[in-house]
Order: sequence, then structure tokens, then C-alpha cells
Amino acid sequence: MHTYKVGYLVGSLAKESINRKLATALARMATSEGLELVEIPIKDLPLYSYDYDADFPKVARDFKQAIEGVDGILFVTPEYNRSIPGALKNAIDWGTRPWGKNSFSRKATAIIGTSPGSIGTAIAQQHLRSMMCFCNAPLMNTVEAYLQFKPDLIDADFNVTNDSTREFLQKYLQDLHQFVARVLTVLPKDA
Ligand code: FNR
Repeated sequence: MHTYKVGYLVGSLAKESINRKLATALARMATSEGLELVEIPIKDLPLYSYDYDADFPKVARDFKQAIEGVDGILFVTPEYNRSIPGALKNAIDWGTRPWGKNSFSRKATAIIGTSPGSIGTAIAQQHLRSMMCFCNAPLMNTVEAYLQFKPDLIDADFNVTNDSTREFLQKYLQDLHQFVARVLTVLPKDA
């Protein structure tokens, strides 16, 4: 099985972020599914404005290069006020600019998120879906993953403690592997 490199963006900047815990657990589970999950950090990006377009700071150039250098992108995001956190929106804005240099274009993307609430980030994910559509990024449509976080769902070693959730996440990663492979598949000349 080919191993694909997938960069993940955690939408939360909080030290005890439950979405970061989920991302770490996924990164550990991913290797057996042919995925290498590496974090692409967003926390040091300044607030974007097009005043930067003529001369992007190094942190933003590095961020764009990191997106361009991976086979796919996984967003692991909380829902803040029924949308994605401002820090993640800011990172997406950096990634799409300057005009004509959209790092997300044609990049395989997928979304997952967790929240203590019962709809498990569903509304934030819908907003992010529409953003990725605008950014010309192929997006994994299914499996959708809206996880309700319970305090003991992920243990101190980043193991998912609930059997059915762990199986669901393993299937999610298997589907992500297949999705990245499909996006990267080159069609034969006569197709
Ligand atoms: C929240 N929270 C939240 N939860 C939710 O399910 N829907 C929502 O719209 C919101 N809105 C919201 C706004 C803001 C500003 C905060 C700080 C929190 C609760 C949220 O799910 C909870 O704090 C999670 O722990 C956030 O995930 P991270 O940041 O811990 O990964």
C-alpha cells in the first residue's frame, strides 16, 4: 500500500483542545492505513490582509509551501458560534492568496471535528465545505464525521477508548486513503 502524506490543520489554538487530541489520535491510527499525518501549524500566522500580497512574511510562505507539499489536507476543527474558528478562516485566507496562487486548488481535502455538543461540529463543517468548494479543492463527501466528545473518549496516550468510535475512525482513515489516491490518479491518455 502506498503511503500518502496528509497535512492536518487543527482549527483550535487552545492548549487543551479536544480537536487537537482527536488529531493526535488520528495521526497514530493513520500509519496502518497508509497515511502519514503531519501537522501544518496555523497559530503563528498574522491576521491576513491583502496589504501582504506583494511580500508575504516567511511564516505565510512556509504555510503555503507546506500545503502544496502534501498529498492531501485534513481539517480537524471545532465549531465556534456555529462556524469555524477565526484562526482557521484566517489560515484558509492566507492559503488562497495572493490572487492566482491558491494553494488549496485541486488538493484533496477532508473534514472532521468534535464538540461536546450533540451535533459534533456539523454546522462548522458545512461552512468549511462551502469554502473548500469555492477554493476548488476536491472534498471527501463521505464518510462525514461529527463526533460528540465525552471526557474519557481519548485517553492520556491518545487511544480512542470507545470501540465503535475507534472502528468508525479507522474506516474514516481508510476512506481518506482511497479518496487521496483517486484525486491523485492520472487518467490514461485515451480515457
Ligand atoms: C464554543 N463551543 C461550541 N460548541 C458547539 O458545538 N457549537 C458552537 O457553535 C460552539 N461555539 C463556541 C464558541 C466559542 C468561542 C467557544 C470557545 C466554544 C464549545 C466548543 O465545542 C468547546 O469549547 C470545544 O472544546 C472546542 O473545541 P477545542 O477548541 O477544545 O478543540
